[in-house]
Amino acid sequence: MKRFLITGASRGIGRAIALKLAAPDVMLLLHGRDIGALAETCRAAERTGAKTAKLIHDLAIFRGIDDLVAEVGHEPIDLLVNNAGIAVVKPFAEITRQEWEQTIGVNVTAPSNSMFRSANAAGLEYRQYFVDCCENGVSKLEHILRQQICP
Ligand SMILES: NC(=O)c1ccc[n+]([C@@H]2O[C@H](COP(=O)([O-])OP(=O)(O)OC[C@H]3O[C@@H](n4cnc5c(N)ncnc54)[C@H](OP(=O)(O)O)[C@@H]3O)[C@@H](O)[C@H]2O)c1
Repeated sequence: MKRFLITGASRGIGRAIALKLAAPDVMLLLHGRDIGALAETCRAAERTGAKTAKLIHDLAIFRGIDDLVAEVGHEPIDLLVNNAGIAVVKPFAEITRQEWEQTIGVNVTAPSNSMFRSANAAGLEYRQYFVDCCENGVSKLEHILRQQICP
């Protein structure tokens, strides 16, 4: 049976992806925070014959990421959909420290950690160094900030 992990499957695009992937030979590991909404996704997916597991964790904090990875376990997964995300749409100067930390946590730290650890579980190795990720990330942010700063 194939195992697919989809983060942010409680609503929106994540739920739609989960329902597209739902099939009798599939175990869907469905993540979210909203217990009721996640249960609704699971019920809809199970109607196709798919098996589901609910993984309820806050990905804005390291503890939540660690707990998600631990719950997924060492058995390799066949597909990882890093969908959980936050979009804070406001000028850079108005972003609060909490919004910054949550966005970096959910949009950057959580997906990179879950990719790295699932690759490890599948016996794959990373060829790039962490410093490359940081340099590329910062230069992209710098580029976007330059575009937003008006003379
Ligand atoms: N919609 C668009 O037009 C658009 C465009 C470009 C990119 N995207 C990206 O596509 C993805 C899905 O978009 P969407 O519109 O479906 O978003 P959405 O409806 O706002 O759903 C976001 C999902 O992420 C989860 N999530 C948010 N914060 C979390 C946290 N701290 N810990 C754990 N889970 C968290 C939510 O879980 P709970 O509700 O259970 O908390 C929810 O399942 C996002 O990454 C988004 O940035 C969307």
